[in-house]
Amino acid sequence: MPLIEKEIIDKIREANNIVDVIGEYLSLTKKGRNFFALCPFHDDNNPSLSVSSEKQIFKCFVCGEAGNVFNFLMKYKNINFNEALKILGDKVGIHTNVKIEKKVYKDNSYYKMYEIITKFYNLNLLSERGKEAFNYLEKRKITKELIKRFQIGLALDNKDLATKLLSEKGYSVDSLIKLGITNKGDYDYYDVFNNRIMFPLHNLDGEIVGFSGRIYKENSTHTNKYINSKESEIFKKGEILYNYHNIKNEIAKHKQIIIVEGFMDVIRLVSVGIENVVATMGTSFTKEQIKAIKRLTNNIFLSFDGDKAGLSATYKTGILFRKNGMDVNVIVLDNDSDPDSYILEHGKDKYQILIDKKIPFIEFVIDYLKKDKDLSKSVDQALYINEVMNEINTIEDMTLKKILIKRISSDMNIDNEILTSKLIGNKKDIKIKEIEDKLSNKYLKAEKNLIYYMFKYPEVIKIYEKNISYLPTKEYRFLANEILYFYKNYGTITFADFITYLENKTDLINLTCEILNYNFKEDYSIEEINDYIEVLKDYNINKEIKRLEEEMKKETDVQKKMDILSKIMEFKKGVS
Ligand code: GTP
Ligand code: MN
Repeated sequence: MPLIEKEIIDKIREANNIVDVIGEYLSLTKKGRNFFALCPFHDDNNPSLSVSSEKQIFKCFVCGEAGNVFNFLMKYKNINFNEALKILGDKVGIHTNVKIEKKVYKDNSYYKMYEIITKFYNLNLLSERGKEAFNYLEKRKITKELIKRFQIGLALDNKDLATKLLSEKGYSVDSLIKLGITNKGDYDYYDVFNNRIMFPLHNLDGEIVGFSGRIYKENSTHTNKYINSKESEIFKKGEILYNYHNIKNEIAKHKQIIIVEGFMDVIRLVSVGIENVVATMGTSFTKEQIKAIKRLTNNIFLSFDGDKAGLSATYKTGILFRKNGMDVNVIVLDNDSDPDSYILEHGKDKYQILIDKKIPFIEFVIDYLKKDKDLSKSVDQALYINEVMNEINTIEDMTLKKILIKRISSDMNIDNEILTSKLIGNKKDIKIKEIEDKLSNKYLKAEKNLIYYMFKYPEVIKIYEKNISYLPTKEYRFLANEILYFYKNYGTITFADFITYLENKTDLINLTCEILNYNFKEDYSIEEINDYIEVLKDYNINKEIKRLEEEMKKETDVQKKMDILSKIMEFKKGVS
């Protein structure tokens, strides 16, 4: 146990409802008595992290990660027990005198700089000198309200206003250069952004870390439509998702995320009230971005541009998300639209219909892969079938697989058998079966039940101590001993406090949570407990018999052999 008194630790734990705390980091859905979220500790496909308000524990039934509110925070933030204690204590006003080594994660002045410059750009846009840019946005139906909401601004046609402003505020030119706000010329310094409408870019936590600037003048001499801040200590293009920091509640509501290509598309969707939407910076998805999305939902809607490039990006991105176990749907637009132009032209309702009519990714693929192939040629046919079957094999649902195969078989006029032979068995099914086999083992069942009721009814702890005090399976034996020890020391036992006591015995913590999550009956009968005790006694006796039989085999002395045999007979009488 750490140096803080147990009572204080327990108080802090009690004051922090685990559902609320985890809910700050993950999007929770209530199912029955528990809450569920996508597990952040493994590559999760379906919400498999359950959080119990009643037991004040969390448990992932896929990766096995489990514990109480402290364990969650420690694991999630990669911090130690004292740090977790301090964070949770401070939150509920129970201050511990825990000293935490100050870690400077990042230089906050960088964020401050971006805040200042964002305000400055925003004022430019709303000022007299921003008229032309403002009109441009107005023409594109970007209202003043949206300008405020997305903190859109304007870099004026001026050499070094931003550089000057920040220098005057005391920021070094070096840091401005590092952040990509300022360039160094031969004799002087000048702003990187000029004559562009400025879109601030936030990191996943919502801090501004960079800009994207768009040209807006009719005959602009600039070559690039957009330029972005260069990568810096705080700005990593591959870690940005435009609008991500705004959508947590939206995702909790809609249980799905819409992914678009451009941030103009994001702004348009938000403007019509569809707010669960993000975009990358026009790049393909990185691991970090996928992980960030997975933290919120696995239910993806790809809504890319309707042109050839958009379809190809849909295909590539869809495959990538599927590989990460996500559920992908596709919204296909006409050839020359993107979500922004589609909504402006046809209205929100038409777009909403496309969302509701979602095309499952596999359906999109079946069509998409036909493009650029001449299916009257057997070479292309074979290629098509291999490509499609690769995709079908990533689907978990066996029924859906069979339906798709049937469809392709009639569509392509190919024997069902040939396609079925390309199917790969489902790993998940095998895993479930293994778990079930394990559960059906009657000794394990007795051990688990006994431990479960030891937590709920301390008298069961006494029965255990008196009658067996030895469980066959090593882990359960350790756990039962810890329970006994805890109970003897503290006189009571609750799951969540017991878990704190286990400290870094992760295996035991996980095991505890696993057992507590089984849906055993709430109350026990003494007959039932006695049954378990008998089963376990039998187990111990049978084990002893086996040991004696081995011993007897090796024994050469006839008299000794007889002695062992009578011992065995004695034991066998006791087995039911
Ligand atoms: P609008 O033309 O203003 O409607 O932009 P859009 O949002 O429709 O962008 P588009 O579909 O052309 O491109 C998608 C995304 O790619 C944009 O949001 C940008 O992030 C990025 N992008 C587009 N053009 C450029 C460019 O010239 N340079 C860079 N660096 N990125 C670009
Ligand atoms: Mn566009």
